[in-house]
Amino acid sequence: MKKISAVILLPLLLTLFFAAVSLAASQFRKDYVKALETNNFTALEYYGRTGKNEIPAEVRALLKEARETGSFDDKMRLIDIASSMAGMYQHWHGDGKLVSEVEAFQREEIKKENERRAEAERWNRYEMVPGNFVMRDRLPEMEAKGLSPVIFPHWVHRLIYDCKACHQGIFAMRRGANALSQAKILEGSQCGVCHNGTASFSAKEKCERCHRAGKPGDDTLLDPAKYDLKKIREASSRLGSSWAPEKLKDGKFPLDRLGQIDWTAMKESGAYGPLKSLDKGAKDEVRDNTVYFEPRMTFIKGVLFSHKTHSSSVECAACHKEIFKDALGGTDPVSMQDMSAGVSCGACHGKTAFKLADCNRCHTVVQGNPVEGVLKRTPPPAGK
Ligand code: HEC
Ligand code: HEC
Ligand code: HEC
Ligand code: HEC
Ligand code: HEC
Ligand code: HEC
Repeated sequence: MKKISAVILLPLLLTLFFAAVSLAASQFRKDYVKALETNNFTALEYYGRTGKNEIPAEVRALLKEARETGSFDDKMRLIDIASSMAGMYQHWHGDGKLVSEVEAFQREEIKKENERRAEAERWNRYEMVPGNFVMRDRLPEMEAKGLSPVIFPHWVHRLIYDCKACHQGIFAMRRGANALSQAKILEGSQCGVCHNGTASFSAKEKCERCHRAGKPGDDTLLDPAKYDLKKIREASSRLGSSWAPEKLKDGKFPLDRLGQIDWTAMKESGAYGPLKSLDKGAKDEVRDNTVYFEPRMTFIKGVLFSHKTHSSSVECAACHKEIFKDALGGTDPVSMQDMSAGVSCGACHGKTAFKLADCNRCHTVVQGNPVEGVLKRTPPPAGK
């Protein structure tokens, strides 16, 4: 009986002991950080001088936390505190071991961060064209087979298919939300709905037409002027979309101010007529009205949102209700800051549709000059 209680009690006591130690240590850290933040050098000296027992444990706890945190800025903040404590320790207690430990850790973390950034940058080039996505969630498995990451070019597909043909039926309209994999593709879902050797080239054989980032010829997906438009002619006659490149001025894609394909001008030119659905009899729902957004600031022009052009390309369910409420004024506030974080209009503009930097393509209406027949959102009183 006595033995059992010792077995239970000992760990309990030990736990309490360590909890007390770590509480004490974190009070030490709180005091130290406060002194550090307020540049209170007298206090820092005091903690350094009297902290012979606390500092080593605290420095190691800080490094452990730094190792576990995901954000680079948070890591660096924790390392700064550890570095200051280690410096004090060396100064007052003559032992430089902690300083070397912190420095080695910091060098390692900076190296890792630089590698992470270089890796991201390596693929950024492929994403300069709006809607070109590099798919590399499963990079290690690809590399094991000597394959490069996949480039998915929205623009090539848009020449043949409208958004509705893929969203939401085949793909949810959010990157990373579809758990893409070669196995699913070979089963005939995801890219394999079309890349099956019938609608388009087969994923069973033409590996490098998709696994292409970093391979020779990858630039044809980055610069529409270099793309062999014969492929579009063949695909459109095979699939029944309309393609009339002779309607393009000088045979070239119209470009916007930022040098990207201007899809609104493309549509107006009549050079292409994308398929709205993979099955010809499907019904197509379009909402024929225009919503007027009037910014609360009077110096900026108002914005017209055409339900008609948007819903003729995009399924209602792609916008409602995840991105916008389907009640006039129900989505509030709609702000530029949110848009640049990918919310509301920014779910597409800046990603697959023209960029937010192109202000005048949205802000077109002088305020107080109402356009006939538009639905005006009535914003709730300012300050709400
Ligand atoms: C051929 C199929 C296809 C067509 C057509 C298509 N998309 Fe996509 N779209 C995709 C795929 C694939 C993804 C990436 C999904 C993933 O990563 O899981 C995607 C992702 C997106 C995203 C998410 C972007 C992000 O950063 O999260 C948006 C927005 C989008 N598409 C909008 C559109 C619009 C607008 C159109 C029409 C102009 C369109 N798509 C046409 C296949 C298509
Ligand atoms: C709705 C049908 C459809 C879906 C879904 C689809 N594609 Fe395509 N894709 C096409 C068609 C059609 C072409 C035009 C080229 C051709 O068929 O010759 C094409 C062209 C391409 C090209 C250009 C290749 C070249 O050499 O010109 C790439 C790359 C590509 N698709 C990758 C993908 C990836 C990756 C996915 C899935 C994330 C995907 N596609 C989903 C139909 C589709
Ligand atoms: C139509 C485009 C396309 C073609 C063609 C294609 N793949 Fe893929 N593949 C993908 C996409 C998309 C992914 C998932 C990418 C991601 O999100 O990491 C993928 C992923 C992979 C992966 C990673 C592991 C896994 O199981 O998903 C391997 C390995 C792979 N493909 C091998 C091949 C081989 C081998 C071929 C030729 C026989 C091929 N792929 C042809 C689009 C394609
Ligand atoms: C590209 C995104 C988008 C698509 C696609 C879209 N909507 Fe909307 N919808 C909006 C926005 C933006 C508003 C305004 C929301 C607000 O005022 O908060 C709106 C408002 C509405 C409203 C209230 C105003 C009105 O028009 O009476 C209804 C109802 C509505 N949508 C239905 C639909 C239906 C039905 C479809 C498909 C045919 C559709 N929407 C497609 C973005 C979209
Ligand atoms: C894709 C369309 C679109 C583009 C591009 C765009 N805006 Fe906006 N902007 C809006 C909408 C919609 C609102 C919301 C209006 C409201 O309050 O109802 C808005 C609101 C604003 C506001 C009001 C306050 C705020 O921050 O939300 C300002 C200022 C503004 N935009 C400036 C700009 C500038 C400058 C640019 C170019 C750098 C720009 N916008 C590009 C659609 C756009
Ligand atoms: C689901 C994706 C999506 C969302 C969300 C979206 N747009 Fe668009 N928008 C497009 C696409 C695609 C085009 C065609 C032009 C292009 O691709 O650059 C377009 C074109 C436009 C145009 C020019 C042609 C036209 O139809 O008037 C304006 C203006 C515009 N959008 C404003 C807005 C505003 C304002 C919002 C938010 C209230 C918004 N869009 C939300 C996808 C979207």
